Amino acid sequence: MPHLFRPRADTVARSVLISIVVLPFLAIGLAYWVSASEHVTGEEMTLDQPVPFSHAHHVGGLGLDCRYCHTGVETSPVAGIPPTHTCMTCHSQLYTQAAMLAPIRQSLAENRPIYWNKVNRLPAYVYFDHSIHIAKGIGCTTCHGDVASMPLLRQAAPLTMGWCLDCHRNPAPNLRPAAAVFDPHWKFPDDQAERGVILAHQYLDNQHLTDCSICHR
Ligand code: HEC
Ligand code: HEC
Ligand code: HEC
Ligand code: HEC
Ligand code: HEC
Repeated sequence: MPHLFRPRADTVARSVLISIVVLPFLAIGLAYWVSASEHVTGEEMTLDQPVPFSHAHHVGGLGLDCRYCHTGVETSPVAGIPPTHTCMTCHSQLYTQAAMLAPIRQSLAENRPIYWNKVNRLPAYVYFDHSIHIAKGIGCTTCHGDVASMPLLRQAAPLTMGWCLDCHRNPAPNLRPAAAVFDPHWKFPDDQAERGVILAHQYLDNQHLTDCSICHR
């Protein structure tokens, strides 16, 4: 009896069959990889800004305190971005002719605010509050990374629900003494496991940190 298919056709049929079985898994794997990647969460990206303001120079170099510019961070949900006159306390005398500071001078002259592009952004249906985290011993760099070494600021954490919940389930390993919250160079000590537990007893009282209504109100 003659062969119904040539041997080559047989190989083709077999690879088609294998593809049908394997492809969906590849597709799921790819979709997962894309959705979890930094590109989608926005992590590690920098944005163009009207003025290339450098935290590395102003925080790392000059040693300015966060609260000098982000005045709302201890008292309100939003940290706030400094108005033009905060920059001008120094730059009316320093770098007064610098081209890269032209938008600042223009903003002052025309009494119009500078529009900085927002780097960290949560969806509108999520409620976040800076002041409570600051009051309870979570440092800026725990969520925003090593800003003192960033020439342009970038998003340092994924800001996903899983990321919030990881800490809300067990904040102790992330707690630092209140005095160290604004210190951009502070490092966790070797015995953080014990110290964190002690700080948790001192600072924390909310037993419902993983309730949906905490973040979705
Ligand atoms: C001299 C003023 C100044 C100081 C001091 C300063 N910042 Fe900023 N910060 C800015 C300006 C201006 C922006 C907006 C431009 C940008 O994103 O870089 C900004 C943006 C940010 C952002 C991103 C905001 C967003 O869009 O999501 C974070 C986070 C931040 N600062 C953290 C800090 C921390 C932490 C400190 C202290 C360790 C600090 N800053 C000190 C001026 C300052
Ligand atoms: C406390 C004083 C002070 C304040 C407030 C301040 N600056 Fe500066 N800025 C400096 C000094 C000093 C330098 C030079 C730093 C260097 O070369 O290391 C500088 C440098 C700069 C430069 C040049 C590039 C660089 O980073 O070296 C830019 C742009 C700049 N500042 C923008 C701003 C903006 C925008 C603000 C307000 C959000 C601001 N500065 C607030 C003191 C200040
Ligand atoms: C528990 C994590 C966490 C800590 C701690 C934290 N931030 Fe933020 N920060 C965020 C998140 C999340 C956003 C985005 C908020 C949004 O989009 O509503 C943000 C946004 C910002 C912004 C943009 C303006 C605004 O208020 O939305 C600035 C500036 C900022 N943070 C500065 C700081 C400084 C300075 C500190 C320390 C004193 C600090 N943050 C501590 C999580 C944190
Ligand atoms: C690194 C740890 C950490 C991260 C990350 C974190 N939180 Fe928190 N959060 C805390 C701690 C600690 C408290 C205060 C608990 C207490 O008061 O006992 C808190 C409190 C809160 C509260 C106030 C709850 C109340 O008392 O009403 C809100 C709202 C909140 N977090 C939202 C968020 C959201 C949204 C995110 C993610 C974008 C987030 N948090 C990320 C540690 C964290
Ligand atoms: C500690 C803060 C926090 C708590 C508690 C929390 N969420 Fe979220 N949730 C977030 C943040 C931040 C986002 C947006 C980022 C993201 O999509 O991961 C989000 C997003 C969501 C979304 C949209 C997801 C999507 O893919 O579009 C749903 C639905 C949701 N949450 C449901 C819940 C439910 C149900 C609970 C309680 C079991 C809950 N959340 C508790 C912070 C929280």
